[in-house]
Amino acid sequence: MLEKILVRDARLAENVGKKILLQGWVRTRRDSKAGFSFIEVNDGSSQGNIQVIADAELPNYETHIKSLTAGCSLAVEGEIKESGGKGQSTEVHANTVTVYGTADPDSYPLQKKRHSFEKLREWAHLRPRTNTFGAVTRIRNCVSHSIHQFFQEQDFYYIHTPIITTSDCEGAGEMFQVTTLDLDELGKRQVDKVEYKWDFFDRPSYLTVSGQLEAEIFACGMGKVYTFGPTFRAENSNTTRHLSEFWMIEPEMAFFDLNDNMDLAEKFLKRIFTDVLEKCEEDMQFINLRVDNTIIQTLQDIVSCEFKRLPYTEAVEILQGCGKEFEFPVEWGTDLQSEHERYLTEEHFNQPVILFDYPRCIKPFYMYCNDDEKTVRAMDVLVPKVGEIIGGSQREHRIDILEKRMQEQDLDLDAYWWYRDLRKYGSVPHSGFGLGLERVIQFVTAMGNIRDVIPFPRTPGNADF
Ligand code: 4AD
Ligand code: MG
Repeated sequence: MLEKILVRDARLAENVGKKILLQGWVRTRRDSKAGFSFIEVNDGSSQGNIQVIADAELPNYETHIKSLTAGCSLAVEGEIKESGGKGQSTEVHANTVTVYGTADPDSYPLQKKRHSFEKLREWAHLRPRTNTFGAVTRIRNCVSHSIHQFFQEQDFYYIHTPIITTSDCEGAGEMFQVTTLDLDELGKRQVDKVEYKWDFFDRPSYLTVSGQLEAEIFACGMGKVYTFGPTFRAENSNTTRHLSEFWMIEPEMAFFDLNDNMDLAEKFLKRIFTDVLEKCEEDMQFINLRVDNTIIQTLQDIVSCEFKRLPYTEAVEILQGCGKEFEFPVEWGTDLQSEHERYLTEEHFNQPVILFDYPRCIKPFYMYCNDDEKTVRAMDVLVPKVGEIIGGSQREHRIDILEKRMQEQDLDLDAYWWYRDLRKYGSVPHSGFGLGLERVIQFVTAMGNIRDVIPFPRTPGNADF
């Protein structure tokens, strides 16, 4: 049995001399006059291809090898040899080439020319075979791994919070309803009032917008926990930074105040960026060359700088005094728009910024109220180009103030009986935040559109594949 090898490893000089089996997809083929073909093969394991040399003496040379085109799949048995060619240290000399599947060049979409990312989105089933999407996917994998490693090293427990829920954590009413009721049937029968006792859970239920409330339950008993799962937002935002389904990492820590929370968020992001620079070097070089030639430098600078920390109120003053015309005017008490966030990170500070102490009137019920009665201990981490990448807060752990806030926001206290119980029995100061996985991938890969950093994007009107 021959050793099966990945293209990534076949490209390493240390493997010269090995007799191997290689399987993958043809990127290009060209024939030399000297009686052989050069086949560039990729299997997704690295940005670079391996060059396979197939001799005209091979029995299926005329019948199969000569008609190989981009997209065909094959197996190559052969030997890894030192390469005389430029830009590669090894190549594979084939003893056999077996073709698994052909790809008609008249209809296979991924021909050698470059395609726009919009076009590639229509071919989401084929785009994993492209250089950019391969790089993004490997980087996304590295970041996911890094996230787990970071929290495991810091003694956090990985917990799984529910996808189906009956509470709206963010209170923004942007939830997808989950039901087994037959809407067509209800329509046909012209039912004008739905009884939830007919429905699966006997009450309205939704896809979660955040695992925070359940993470708080575990933090208030086990110390430090994190969730990493899909979250859903039915907001009608057709922007380059919003998805209807995205992945969120939410750590939640007992005995952490807002400063501890900001320290953790900064350390966490720096760890992700460091790992990407170190472990995805080849892909980052590619991104730097093809997508944004400042990205490696930017990440290196961020890893060694201290994030700027600034109260919301001071940020508003900077924005109001900067003399720039914004589409949305800035006023104390309104949420910052992405143009404001970008001004602060890209133009004013030119580095990541953590804003904290936001107006209580624009933030959810669970955030800790400051003594000024106007602000809450919220924080957002903003980065250049992407804007908000993390949102978090210290949580309100004082039962009387929490209940007052819930009343202010017209929440049904009974529905949150368990959340209130956490404040009645052994309540502790605690904090947490949420990092949008796609936002962080978008940032490190410099991709302009968030739909190009998730395998199968869901946005208003789009749920293909
Ligand atoms: O600021 P958000 O809404 O915060 C929460 O959900 C808190 N419950 C988190 C917590 O404290 N445990 O969302 C957190 C992050 C944002 O900073 C952003 O990175 C990302 O989630 N995010 C989105 N990413 C893609 N598409 C969307 N529609 C997003 N909405 C939020
Ligand atoms: Mg937010």
